[in-house]
Amino acid sequence: MLATERWRQMIEVEHAQSDEMRGAVPPPTDHWRPYAANFRADPRRTGDDLVDLLLEYVSPDQTVLDVGAGGGRLALPIALRCQSLVAVEPSESMADVLTQQAQESGIENVSVVQEEWQDAWVDPADIVLCAHVIYTIRDIGGFLKKLDAHAKKSVLLVVYNAPPQSQIYGIWQEVHGKERLPLPSLPELKEVLEELGINHQVDLMPPQSPRGFDDLEDAIGQLSRRLYVAAGSAQAHRLEQMLPGLLTEEEGVLRIRDSQPLRPALVSWQPNHPA
Ligand SMILES: C[S@@+](CC[C@H](N)C(=O)[O-])C[C@H]1O[C@@H](n2cnc3c(N)ncnc32)[C@H](O)[C@@H]1O
Repeated sequence: MLATERWRQMIEVEHAQSDEMRGAVPPPTDHWRPYAANFRADPRRTGDDLVDLLLEYVSPDQTVLDVGAGGGRLALPIALRCQSLVAVEPSESMADVLTQQAQESGIENVSVVQEEWQDAWVDPADIVLCAHVIYTIRDIGGFLKKLDAHAKKSVLLVVYNAPPQSQIYGIWQEVHGKERLPLPSLPELKEVLEELGINHQVDLMPPQSPRGFDDLEDAIGQLSRRLYVAAGSAQAHRLEQMLPGLLTEEEGVLRIRDSQPLRPALVSWQPNHPA
């Protein structure tokens, strides 16, 4: 099977499993609304390894396109160090966080295009960044080719070494009694890029501590959502029973005990077309 087909198939079976667990409850129109505030970050913060690594590719006279920019966690620190940045971001709640943070921080060289990348009409830029977006993109070949076609100098893709929700796959199994089907991530991306003939470099970054939960109630709320557990159901009861034993306190937050921290990777390449 082609790597691009396998990628699509992984997403389709994962989504089908989510739909099965969600039952009659329709998916939210803006999936990111409950999480958007988590993607707000001080654009002038220091000591963020990923930002520092990305900035090595960006110079003050360059333009940047951030595809799936979210709340501007990466876009805004980069905007401070480049000529201008266009953020392509379909989620209203995420785009609102980004716009508000840019205003509060006095950053004026950012514009937001509220579209999915597949539908967006934007000019090419020197650098095209796309961080933690592709895990659910079915037509990965078309998506990556469009990123490539819009980059004059470099494409910078940030992707985890394992599926972003893989830390809760163990809990999924306990709560639902079946294995969680995984989304594609770095290993499958490498196969896709090879198949597309895109010569790329991979920089694997150090493991990243998960954000964690403020308290048990926060953990129950977040995990119920991510595991599609309806309030008052047998699964909700099971989750509430088992959760205190699965959590451990670290650095003032609750984290899932013994979970494998995710490692972001920067996958970069120079486009092979005339600038
Ligand atoms: C996990 S967030 C990452 C946000 C940001 N890049 C970061 O690393 O902080 C994924 C973002 O991708 C956006 N997204 C999802 N599908 C997209 C698509 N087809 N085109 C553009 N953005 C998309 C979502 O709306 C969401 O804001």
